[in-house]
Amino acid sequence: MIKQTLPDQTHIAYQDGELWIEDVRLSDLARQHGTPLFVYSKATMLSALAAYQRGFSGRKAQICYAMKANSSLAVLQVFAQAGCGFDIVSGGELERVLAAGGDAKKIIFSGVGKTRAEMRRALEVGIHCFNVESEAELEVLNEVALSLGQRARLSIRVNPNVDPKTHPYISTGLKGNKFGIAHERTLATYQRATSLPGLHVVGIDCHIGSQITQQGPYLDAMDRVLDLVQAIEAAGITIEHIDFGGGLGIDYNNPDEAGLPPPADVLWAQLLARLDARGYGQRQLMIEPGRSLVGNAGVCLTEVLYLKPGEQKNFCIIDAAMNDLPRPAMYQAFHQIVPLHPREGALSCWDVVGPVCESGDWIGRDRALNVHSGDLLAVLSTGAYCMSMSSNYNTRGRAAEVLVNGSQAHLIRQRDTVADQMRGEILLSAA
Ligand code: LLP
Repeated sequence: MIKQTLPDQTHIAYQDGELWIEDVRLSDLARQHGTPLFVYSKATMLSALAAYQRGFSGRKAQICYAMKANSSLAVLQVFAQAGCGFDIVSGGELERVLAAGGDAKKIIFSGVGKTRAEMRRALEVGIHCFNVESEAELEVLNEVALSLGQRARLSIRVNPNVDPKTHPYISTGLKGNKFGIAHERTLATYQRATSLPGLHVVGIDCHIGSQITQQGPYLDAMDRVLDLVQAIEAAGITIEHIDFGGGLGIDYNNPDEAGLPPPADVLWAQLLARLDARGYGQRQLMIEPGRSLVGNAGVCLTEVLYLKPGEQKNFCIIDAAMNDLPRPAMYQAFHQIVPLHPREGALSCWDVVGPVCESGDWIGRDRALNVHSGDLLAVLSTGAYCMSMSSNYNTRGRAAEVLVNGSQAHLIRQRDTVADQMRGEILLSAA
Protein backbone atom coordinates (compact mmCIF):
# COMPACT_ATOMS: atom_id res chain seq x y z
CA MET A 1 0.00 0.00 0.00
CA ILE A 2 1.34 3.40 -0.93
CA LYS A 3 1.14 6.07 1.78
CA GLN A 4 -0.38 9.38 0.74
CA THR A 5 1.75 12.40 1.60
CA LEU A 6 2.12 16.03 0.54
CA PRO A 7 5.14 17.24 -1.45
CA ASP A 8 7.38 19.90 0.12
CA GLN A 9 7.83 23.46 -1.05
CA THR A 10 4.33 24.15 -2.26
CA HIS A 11 1.62 26.32 -0.82
CA ILE A 12 -0.64 23.31 -0.32
CA ALA A 13 -0.95 22.19 3.31
CA TYR A 14 -3.30 20.84 5.97
CA GLN A 15 -4.59 23.28 8.53
CA ASP A 16 -7.42 22.68 11.05
CA GLY A 17 -8.02 19.20 9.66
CA GLU A 18 -8.44 20.17 6.03
CA LEU A 19 -6.42 20.92 2.92
CA TRP A 20 -5.72 24.51 1.91
CA ILE A 21 -4.01 26.14 -1.05
CA GLU A 22 -2.44 29.42 0.04
CA ASP A 23 -5.20 31.07 2.13
CA VAL A 24 -8.13 29.29 0.53
CA ARG A 25 -9.91 26.10 1.65
CA LEU A 26 -9.93 23.68 -1.28
CA SER A 27 -13.30 22.26 -0.21
CA ASP A 28 -14.86 25.74 -0.64
CA LEU A 29 -13.63 25.82 -4.23
CA ALA A 30 -14.95 22.31 -4.94
CA ARG A 31 -18.35 23.30 -3.55
CA GLN A 32 -18.45 26.54 -5.51
CA HIS A 33 -17.18 25.32 -8.89
CA GLY A 34 -17.85 21.57 -8.84
CA THR A 35 -15.40 18.76 -9.62
CA PRO A 36 -13.18 17.78 -11.31
CA LEU A 37 -11.49 21.14 -10.77
CA PHE A 38 -7.88 22.20 -11.31
CA VAL A 39 -6.61 24.70 -8.75
CA TYR A 40 -3.25 26.48 -9.05
CA SER A 41 -1.19 28.44 -6.54
CA LYS A 42 0.30 31.61 -8.00
CA ALA A 43 2.81 31.78 -5.12
CA THR A 44 4.10 28.28 -5.91
CA MET A 45 4.57 29.18 -9.58
CA LEU A 46 6.42 32.36 -8.71
CA SER A 47 8.64 30.65 -6.17
CA ALA A 48 9.55 28.00 -8.75
CA LEU A 49 10.44 30.81 -11.15
CA ALA A 50 12.41 32.60 -8.42
CA ALA A 51 14.69 29.54 -8.03
CA TYR A 52 15.74 29.93 -11.68
CA GLN A 53 16.06 33.72 -11.32
CA ARG A 54 18.34 33.26 -8.28
CA GLY A 55 20.37 30.73 -10.21
CA PHE A 56 20.92 33.22 -13.04
CA SER A 57 21.48 36.40 -11.04
CA GLY A 58 24.29 38.46 -12.57
CA ARG A 59 24.06 36.54 -15.87
CA LYS A 60 22.53 37.32 -19.21
CA ALA A 61 19.68 34.82 -19.23
CA GLN A 62 16.14 34.67 -20.58
CA ILE A 63 13.68 32.16 -19.13
CA CYS A 64 11.23 31.05 -21.81
CA TYR A 65 8.39 29.13 -20.16
CA ALA A 66 7.64 25.96 -22.19
CA MET A 67 3.94 26.62 -22.29
CA LYS A 68 2.92 23.17 -23.47
CA ALA A 69 3.11 22.23 -19.79
CA ASN A 70 0.12 24.45 -19.02
CA SER A 71 -1.10 26.88 -21.64
CA SER A 72 -4.12 28.36 -19.85
CA LEU A 73 -4.22 32.09 -20.56
CA ALA A 74 -4.10 33.27 -16.95
CA VAL A 75 -1.10 31.00 -16.25
CA LEU A 76 0.69 32.55 -19.24
CA GLN A 77 -0.27 35.98 -17.93
CA VAL A 78 1.42 35.26 -14.57
CA PHE A 79 4.67 34.31 -16.31
CA ALA A 80 4.49 37.17 -18.85
CA GLN A 81 4.05 39.67 -16.02
CA ALA A 82 7.02 38.12 -14.21
CA GLY A 83 9.21 38.84 -17.27
CA CYS A 84 9.28 35.40 -18.86
CA GLY A 85 9.48 34.70 -22.54
CA PHE A 86 7.82 31.62 -24.02
CA ASP A 87 8.89 28.46 -25.80
CA ILE A 88 6.13 27.61 -28.27
CA VAL A 89 5.53 24.65 -30.56
CA SER A 90 2.56 25.70 -32.68
CA GLY A 91 0.72 28.63 -34.20
CA GLY A 92 -2.00 28.08 -31.62
CA GLU A 93 0.48 28.52 -28.78
CA LEU A 94 1.74 31.71 -30.45
CA GLU A 95 -1.77 33.19 -30.45
CA ARG A 96 -2.22 32.22 -26.79
CA VAL A 97 0.96 34.09 -25.79
CA LEU A 98 -0.19 37.18 -27.65
CA ALA A 99 -3.68 36.94 -26.14
CA ALA A 100 -2.14 36.71 -22.64
CA GLY A 101 -0.04 39.84 -23.18
CA GLY A 102 3.30 38.07 -23.74
CA ASP A 103 6.12 39.82 -25.59
CA ALA A 104 6.61 38.44 -29.13
CA LYS A 105 10.30 39.37 -28.97
CA LYS A 106 10.79 36.87 -26.16
CA ILE A 107 9.28 33.91 -28.05
CA ILE A 108 11.28 30.97 -29.32
CA PHE A 109 9.56 28.58 -31.68
CA SER A 110 10.55 24.90 -31.27
CA GLY A 111 9.15 21.72 -32.84
CA VAL A 112 9.95 19.33 -35.68
CA GLY A 113 6.96 20.12 -37.89
CA LYS A 114 6.36 23.85 -38.26
CA THR A 115 4.09 24.72 -41.19
CA ARG A 116 4.70 27.58 -43.62
CA ALA A 117 1.64 29.38 -42.25
CA GLU A 118 3.00 29.09 -38.70
CA MET A 119 6.41 30.39 -39.81
CA ARG A 120 4.80 33.31 -41.64
CA ARG A 121 2.74 34.39 -38.66
CA ALA A 122 5.73 34.12 -36.31
CA LEU A 123 7.81 36.27 -38.66
CA GLU A 124 5.02 38.84 -38.94
CA VAL A 125 4.79 39.28 -35.17
CA GLY A 126 8.59 39.37 -34.82
CA ILE A 127 9.50 36.44 -32.53
CA HIS A 128 13.00 36.17 -31.07
CA CYS A 129 13.98 33.07 -33.04
CA PHE A 130 13.09 29.70 -34.53
CA ASN A 131 14.71 26.56 -33.17
CA VAL A 132 15.22 24.69 -36.43
CA GLU A 133 15.14 20.91 -36.17
CA SER A 134 16.06 19.66 -39.68
CA GLU A 135 17.89 20.62 -42.84
CA ALA A 136 14.60 20.49 -44.77
CA GLU A 137 13.03 22.98 -42.35
CA LEU A 138 15.96 25.35 -42.91
CA GLU A 139 15.20 25.56 -46.62
CA VAL A 140 11.49 26.20 -46.05
CA LEU A 141 12.15 28.86 -43.41
CA ASN A 142 14.48 30.63 -45.84
CA GLU A 143 11.77 30.64 -48.53
CA VAL A 144 9.07 31.91 -46.19
CA ALA A 145 11.30 34.68 -44.82
CA LEU A 146 12.29 35.80 -48.33
CA SER A 147 8.64 35.89 -49.41
CA LEU A 148 8.07 38.41 -46.60
CA GLY A 149 11.25 40.34 -47.38
CA GLN A 150 12.70 39.34 -44.00
CA ARG A 151 15.59 37.36 -42.53
CA ALA A 152 14.45 34.76 -40.04
CA ARG A 153 16.49 34.58 -36.81
CA LEU A 154 17.31 31.01 -35.93
CA SER A 155 19.04 28.57 -33.66
CA ILE A 156 19.73 25.04 -34.68
CA ARG A 157 18.55 22.37 -32.28
CA VAL A 158 21.28 19.82 -31.93
CA ASN A 159 20.78 16.29 -30.78
CA PRO A 160 23.66 15.70 -28.35
CA ASN A 161 23.03 11.93 -28.10
CA VAL A 162 22.89 11.97 -24.29
CA ASP A 163 20.66 9.64 -22.24
CA PRO A 164 18.53 11.78 -19.90
CA LYS A 165 17.54 8.66 -17.89
CA THR A 166 13.83 9.34 -17.97
CA HIS A 167 10.71 7.68 -19.45
CA PRO A 168 11.39 6.70 -23.11
CA TYR A 169 8.37 8.72 -24.37
CA ILE A 170 9.84 11.92 -22.93
CA SER A 171 13.50 11.31 -23.86
CA THR A 172 14.43 13.53 -26.77
CA GLY A 173 18.21 13.86 -27.01
CA LEU A 174 19.19 10.39 -28.16
CA LYS A 175 20.23 9.41 -31.69
CA GLY A 176 17.08 7.36 -32.23
CA ASN A 177 14.75 10.31 -31.39
CA LYS A 178 13.09 12.44 -34.04
CA PHE A 179 14.41 15.68 -32.52
CA GLY A 180 17.29 17.95 -33.51
CA ILE A 181 20.17 17.67 -35.93
CA ALA A 182 22.79 14.98 -35.41
CA HIS A 183 26.01 16.14 -33.82
CA GLU A 184 28.02 15.19 -36.94
CA ARG A 185 25.75 17.20 -39.26
CA THR A 186 25.66 20.33 -37.13
CA LEU A 187 28.57 22.31 -38.59
CA ALA A 188 27.49 21.62 -42.18
CA THR A 189 23.94 22.72 -41.29
CA TYR A 190 25.21 25.99 -39.80
CA GLN A 191 27.30 26.58 -42.92
CA ARG A 192 24.24 26.00 -45.10
CA ALA A 193 22.18 28.36 -42.91
CA THR A 194 24.69 31.19 -43.24
CA SER A 195 24.70 30.78 -47.03
CA LEU A 196 20.95 31.36 -47.33
CA PRO A 197 19.86 35.01 -47.75
CA GLY A 198 16.62 34.71 -45.79
CA LEU A 199 18.28 33.39 -42.62
CA HIS A 200 20.18 34.97 -39.75
CA VAL A 201 21.92 32.57 -37.35
CA VAL A 202 21.67 33.73 -33.73
CA GLY A 203 22.05 30.69 -31.49
CA ILE A 204 22.31 27.03 -30.73
CA ASP A 205 19.74 24.93 -28.87
CA CYS A 206 19.35 21.54 -27.25
CA HIS A 207 16.67 19.86 -25.14
CA ILE A 208 17.36 16.32 -23.98
CA GLY A 209 14.11 15.25 -22.32
CA SER A 210 11.68 15.82 -19.49
CA GLN A 211 11.34 14.87 -15.79
CA ILE A 212 15.12 14.67 -15.55
CA THR A 213 16.23 14.09 -11.96
CA GLN A 214 20.01 13.98 -12.33
CA GLN A 215 22.64 16.61 -13.11
CA GLY A 216 24.92 14.28 -15.10
CA PRO A 217 22.96 14.26 -18.37
CA TYR A 218 22.74 18.06 -18.33
CA LEU A 219 26.50 18.42 -17.81
CA ASP A 220 27.20 15.91 -20.60
CA ALA A 221 24.83 17.70 -22.98
CA MET A 222 26.39 21.04 -22.09
CA ASP A 223 29.89 19.76 -22.89
CA ARG A 224 28.73 18.48 -26.23
CA VAL A 225 26.96 21.72 -27.10
CA LEU A 226 30.01 23.79 -26.10
CA ASP A 227 32.24 21.58 -28.27
CA LEU A 228 29.95 22.44 -31.15
CA VAL A 229 29.92 26.17 -30.36
CA GLN A 230 33.71 26.08 -30.44
CA ALA A 231 33.76 24.32 -33.82
CA ILE A 232 31.06 26.58 -35.32
CA GLU A 233 32.79 29.76 -34.18
CA ALA A 234 36.14 28.46 -35.42
CA ALA A 235 34.44 28.29 -38.82
CA GLY A 236 33.62 32.02 -38.54
CA ILE A 237 29.94 31.80 -37.52
CA THR A 238 28.92 33.79 -34.43
CA ILE A 239 26.68 32.16 -31.83
CA GLU A 240 24.99 34.91 -29.80
CA HIS A 241 22.97 32.74 -27.46
CA ILE A 242 23.03 29.22 -26.09
CA ASP A 243 19.68 27.59 -25.28
CA PHE A 244 19.82 24.60 -22.94
CA GLY A 245 16.15 23.65 -23.22
CA GLY A 246 14.01 22.54 -20.29
CA GLY A 247 13.50 19.19 -18.67
CA LEU A 248 14.22 19.61 -14.97
CA GLY A 249 12.03 17.18 -13.04
CA ILE A 250 9.80 17.82 -10.05
CA ASP A 251 9.27 15.84 -6.87
CA TYR A 252 6.08 13.82 -7.39
CA ASN A 253 6.71 12.27 -3.98
CA ASN A 254 6.88 8.94 -5.76
CA PRO A 255 8.00 6.14 -3.41
CA ASP A 256 9.58 4.27 -6.35
CA GLU A 257 11.72 7.18 -7.51
CA ALA A 258 15.14 7.02 -5.91
CA GLY A 259 16.78 10.37 -6.61
CA LEU A 260 15.05 13.71 -6.24
CA PRO A 261 15.67 16.38 -8.86
CA PRO A 262 18.01 19.15 -7.72
CA PRO A 263 16.44 22.58 -7.14
CA ALA A 264 16.82 24.83 -10.20
CA ASP A 265 19.35 27.16 -8.54
CA VAL A 266 21.52 24.22 -7.40
CA LEU A 267 21.47 22.67 -10.89
CA TRP A 268 22.35 25.99 -12.49
CA ALA A 269 25.18 26.68 -10.07
CA GLN A 270 26.78 23.48 -11.40
CA LEU A 271 26.03 24.26 -15.02
CA LEU A 272 27.26 27.85 -14.76
CA ALA A 273 30.47 26.65 -13.11
CA ARG A 274 31.03 24.41 -16.14
CA LEU A 275 30.22 27.27 -18.52
CA ASP A 276 32.64 29.56 -16.67
CA ALA A 277 35.36 26.94 -16.71
CA ARG A 278 35.04 26.69 -20.46
CA GLY A 279 34.91 30.46 -20.97
CA TYR A 280 31.24 30.80 -21.98
CA GLY A 281 29.85 32.16 -18.72
CA GLN A 282 29.04 35.59 -20.11
CA ARG A 283 27.17 34.34 -23.19
CA GLN A 284 23.46 35.12 -23.51
CA LEU A 285 21.68 32.04 -22.14
CA MET A 286 18.16 30.83 -22.80
CA ILE A 287 16.27 28.04 -21.06
CA GLU A 288 12.86 26.47 -21.69
CA PRO A 289 11.51 25.04 -18.42
CA GLY A 290 7.92 23.83 -18.34
CA ARG A 291 7.05 21.22 -15.70
CA SER A 292 9.39 22.64 -13.04
CA LEU A 293 7.56 26.01 -13.14
CA VAL A 294 3.98 24.73 -12.82
CA GLY A 295 3.88 21.03 -11.93
CA ASN A 296 3.74 21.29 -8.16
CA ALA A 297 1.60 24.44 -8.24
CA GLY A 298 -1.52 22.53 -9.29
CA VAL A 299 -3.97 20.07 -7.76
CA CYS A 300 -7.00 18.39 -9.30
CA LEU A 301 -9.99 18.17 -6.96
CA THR A 302 -12.28 15.22 -7.48
CA GLU A 303 -15.24 13.59 -5.72
CA VAL A 304 -15.48 9.91 -4.81
CA LEU A 305 -18.51 8.61 -6.72
CA TYR A 306 -18.58 4.95 -5.67
CA LEU A 307 -16.59 2.46 -3.66
CA LYS A 308 -16.42 -0.98 -5.19
CA PRO A 309 -14.60 -3.39 -2.89
CA GLY A 310 -13.71 -6.71 -4.53
CA GLU A 311 -11.98 -10.01 -3.96
CA GLN A 312 -8.77 -9.01 -5.73
CA LYS A 313 -8.97 -5.25 -5.80
CA ASN A 314 -10.86 -2.43 -4.15
CA PHE A 315 -11.84 0.27 -6.61
CA CYS A 316 -12.43 3.85 -5.60
CA ILE A 317 -14.27 5.43 -8.54
CA ILE A 318 -13.80 9.19 -8.78
CA ASP A 319 -15.26 11.82 -11.10
CA ALA A 320 -11.89 12.70 -12.69
CA ALA A 321 -10.57 10.38 -15.39
CA MET A 322 -7.84 9.80 -17.94
CA ASN A 323 -9.31 12.55 -20.11
CA ASP A 324 -8.52 15.02 -17.29
CA LEU A 325 -5.36 13.34 -15.97
CA PRO A 326 -3.77 11.42 -18.85
CA ARG A 327 -0.29 10.94 -17.36
CA PRO A 328 -0.88 7.66 -15.47
CA ALA A 329 -2.46 6.03 -18.54
CA MET A 330 0.21 7.37 -20.93
CA TYR A 331 3.41 7.04 -18.91
CA GLN A 332 2.40 4.98 -15.84
CA ALA A 333 3.07 8.25 -14.03
CA PHE A 334 2.67 8.58 -10.28
CA HIS A 335 0.58 11.29 -8.59
CA GLN A 336 -0.15 11.47 -4.86
CA ILE A 337 -3.88 11.39 -4.00
CA VAL A 338 -4.90 12.87 -0.64
CA PRO A 339 -8.24 13.56 1.08
CA LEU A 340 -9.37 17.15 1.55
CA HIS A 341 -10.68 16.16 5.01
CA PRO A 342 -8.62 13.23 6.35
CA ARG A 343 -10.73 10.78 8.42
CA GLU A 344 -9.68 9.09 11.63
CA GLY A 345 -9.47 5.31 11.47
CA ALA A 346 -7.99 2.46 9.51
CA LEU A 347 -6.64 2.88 5.99
CA SER A 348 -7.40 0.36 3.30
CA CYS A 349 -5.92 -0.25 -0.10
CA TRP A 350 -7.65 1.26 -3.13
CA ASP A 351 -7.09 1.53 -6.86
CA VAL A 352 -8.32 5.02 -7.67
CA VAL A 353 -9.95 4.96 -11.10
CA GLY A 354 -12.06 7.17 -13.35
CA PRO A 355 -15.39 6.59 -15.11
CA VAL A 356 -13.89 6.19 -18.64
CA CYS A 357 -14.55 2.83 -20.27
CA GLU A 358 -10.96 1.55 -20.39
CA SER A 359 -8.89 -0.42 -17.89
CA GLY A 360 -6.13 2.09 -18.63
CA ASP A 361 -8.25 4.71 -16.90
CA TRP A 362 -6.55 4.58 -13.53
CA ILE A 363 -5.21 7.55 -11.57
CA GLY A 364 -3.44 5.77 -8.71
CA ARG A 365 -2.88 2.13 -7.75
CA ASP A 366 -2.67 0.51 -4.30
CA ARG A 367 -3.30 3.70 -2.36
CA ALA A 368 -3.73 3.72 1.41
CA LEU A 369 -6.89 5.75 2.01
CA ASN A 370 -9.85 5.94 4.35
CA VAL A 371 -12.57 7.09 1.97
CA HIS A 372 -16.38 7.14 1.71
CA SER A 373 -18.45 7.98 -1.32
CA GLY A 374 -19.00 11.72 -1.53
CA ASP A 375 -15.54 12.48 -0.11
CA LEU A 376 -13.34 14.99 -1.86
CA LEU A 377 -9.79 14.08 -2.90
CA ALA A 378 -6.92 16.08 -4.36
CA VAL A 379 -4.66 14.59 -7.04
CA LEU A 380 -1.36 16.37 -6.49
CA SER A 381 1.39 17.71 -8.76
CA THR A 382 -1.09 18.17 -11.59
CA GLY A 383 -0.14 21.70 -12.69
CA ALA A 384 1.88 20.42 -15.66
CA TYR A 385 0.82 18.26 -18.59
CA CYS A 386 -2.67 17.60 -17.24
CA MET A 387 -5.08 20.34 -18.34
CA SER A 388 -2.95 21.01 -21.43
CA MET A 389 -3.18 17.32 -22.41
CA SER A 390 -6.81 16.83 -21.42
CA SER A 391 -9.41 15.74 -23.94
CA ASN A 392 -13.13 15.27 -24.37
CA TYR A 393 -12.88 11.47 -24.62
CA ASN A 394 -16.18 9.77 -23.66
CA THR A 395 -17.74 13.20 -24.33
CA ARG A 396 -16.61 14.35 -20.94
CA GLY A 397 -16.37 18.09 -20.55
CA ARG A 398 -12.94 19.45 -19.75
CA ALA A 399 -12.60 20.59 -16.15
CA ALA A 400 -12.78 24.15 -14.85
CA GLU A 401 -9.67 25.90 -13.50
CA VAL A 402 -9.10 28.29 -10.60
CA LEU A 403 -5.98 30.33 -9.84
CA VAL A 404 -5.42 31.24 -6.21
CA ASN A 405 -3.45 34.29 -5.11
CA GLY A 406 -3.36 34.65 -1.33
CA SER A 407 -6.96 34.65 -0.14
CA GLN A 408 -8.33 35.35 -3.62
CA ALA A 409 -9.55 32.66 -5.97
CA HIS A 410 -10.08 33.50 -9.64
CA LEU A 411 -12.02 31.24 -11.99
CA ILE A 412 -9.72 31.17 -15.04
CA ARG A 413 -11.57 28.62 -17.19
CA GLN A 414 -15.19 27.56 -17.20
CA ARG A 415 -16.09 23.90 -17.33
CA ASP A 416 -16.92 22.71 -20.87
CA THR A 417 -20.60 22.35 -21.58
CA VAL A 418 -21.92 19.66 -23.90
CA ALA A 419 -22.70 22.46 -26.37
CA ASP A 420 -19.02 23.53 -26.22
CA GLN A 421 -18.07 20.01 -27.15
CA MET A 422 -20.45 19.77 -30.11
CA ARG A 423 -19.59 23.21 -31.47
CA GLY A 424 -18.34 23.00 -35.03
CA GLU A 425 -19.85 19.60 -35.75
CA ILE A 426 -22.24 19.22 -38.67
CA LEU A 427 -25.08 16.69 -39.05
CA LEU A 428 -25.68 15.14 -42.45
CA SER A 429 -28.55 16.78 -44.30
CA ALA A 430 -31.88 14.92 -44.05
CA ALA A 431 -32.12 14.00 -47.76
N1 LLP B 1 11.58 22.54 -24.69
C1 LLP B 1 11.20 21.62 -25.61
C2 LLP B 1 11.71 21.74 -26.97
C3 LLP B 1 10.34 20.58 -25.22
O1 LLP B 1 9.98 19.68 -26.12
C4 LLP B 1 9.86 20.51 -23.89
C5 LLP B 1 8.95 19.46 -23.46
C6 LLP B 1 10.28 21.51 -22.98
C7 LLP B 1 11.16 22.49 -23.43
C8 LLP B 1 9.82 21.54 -21.55
O2 LLP B 1 10.21 20.43 -20.84
P1 LLP B 1 9.92 20.34 -19.27
O3 LLP B 1 10.75 21.43 -18.60
O4 LLP B 1 8.47 20.54 -19.07
O5 LLP B 1 10.36 18.99 -18.88
N2 LLP B 1 3.75 15.11 -21.48
C9 LLP B 1 4.95 14.63 -20.82
C10 LLP B 1 6.09 15.63 -20.96
C11 LLP B 1 6.38 16.00 -22.41
C12 LLP B 1 7.50 16.99 -22.57
C13 LLP B 1 7.56 17.49 -23.98
N3 LLP B 1 8.56 18.49 -24.22
C14 LLP B 1 4.64 14.33 -19.36
O6 LLP B 1 3.50 14.53 -18.93
O7 LLP B 1 5.49 13.85 -18.62
